[in-house]
Amino acid sequence: MIDLFPLIRPLLFRFDPETAHGLALAALKSGLLPAAGAGDDPVLRTRVWGLDFANPIGLAAGFDKNAEVVDAMLRQGFGFVEAGSVTPRPQPGNPRPRLFRAVEQGAVLNRMGFNNDGLEAFAARLERRRADPSRPVGPVGANLGKNKDTVDAADDYVIGVRRLAPLADYLVVNVSSPNTPGLRALQGRDPLRDLLGRALDARAACKLARTPPLLLKIAPDLTDEDKSDIAAVALESGVDGLIVSNTTIARPAEIPEALQAEVGGLSGRPLFGPSTAVLAEMHGLTGGKLPLVGAGGVASGADAYAKIRAGASLVQFYSAMVYGGPALVLRIRAELADLLRRDGFASVADAVGADHR
Ligand SMILES: Cc1cc2nc3c(=O)[nH]c(=O)nc-3n(C[C@H](O)[C@H](O)[C@H](O)COP(=O)(O)O)c2cc1C
Repeated sequence: MIDLFPLIRPLLFRFDPETAHGLALAALKSGLLPAAGAGDDPVLRTRVWGLDFANPIGLAAGFDKNAEVVDAMLRQGFGFVEAGSVTPRPQPGNPRPRLFRAVEQGAVLNRMGFNNDGLEAFAARLERRRADPSRPVGPVGANLGKNKDTVDAADDYVIGVRRLAPLADYLVVNVSSPNTPGLRALQGRDPLRDLLGRALDARAACKLARTPPLLLKIAPDLTDEDKSDIAAVALESGVDGLIVSNTTIARPAEIPEALQAEVGGLSGRPLFGPSTAVLAEMHGLTGGKLPLVGAGGVASGADAYAKIRAGASLVQFYSAMVYGGPALVLRIRAELADLLRRDGFASVADAVGADHR
């Protein structure tokens, strides 16, 4: 398949990042983009939480906040797609500008603030696609957030779980976006125990034939105490996995002066090292007992492989697509398959946590 993105990119980059993102979504919704051609390499097939993944490379949350292009992204070659974050009620998010590129550094900075159409619109889209027998295969996750003005945060996650547990292949409790005041404090031991307990109770109350796994998505900016508390609460609560990580509030020196002072979360290449270090740490703290999803700065097969070796059963990316286009997923897949074979691994699962052995 010919990748047109390198030709389109200079044009796209003449628009501000949020307009460019809107254009990308419109192109994907139009159905005019060619689907990825080649099938998945069998070495990439994996099974996690009883779900089958044709490959372990997923689209991270935030690209498709309203579940509008889930199938289009599966057709681009992603092994799974995570839509959201969705909040119970629609909300506009922060004022613009709220999305910035650092092109040289392969980074993105955002303070979107959970702009989204709300739970009903999101659920209706998932209902529609489930009724479509021609939809592509691949797990679809729903990432849950809270409305800015909700006081008891757990209420919003419970509402999200109730509505989406029957519709999503997995659910994510996102308590790690830096752009909703107070959200990251939910990662503390006591609030987290309460929140996960209530979210898991809400899931159990759905009494579904197939219970979707419930994951917790964490920040990269955590103290040692936070990390051991999260690991302990995750294991005792019965949550099914962790996504490591969201964007960082840190500002590495390499980030251009103009962006240093912007409020928000940084993602892309500068996040790779820190997020992979937290991933490896969480793998150790949870004793390898919980499947982990590695996100943060993945832009190549080598990056995805490093996440897997550090302990990730699955990998996600978003920011690198801003610079490489959606066809990047095909390159990452091919490179990852080569690396697995080079090192004698018969499957992704065999390589998970290899650095710790
Ligand atoms: C513009 C933008 C919006 C995002 N929105 C969300 C979101 O709504 N919920 C969420 O859990 N993560 C969100 N993320 C974080 C990504 O899912 C991912 O965890 C992070 O960007 C690190 O991966 P990357 O370096 O490949 O982008 C967002 C990231 C970006 C760049």
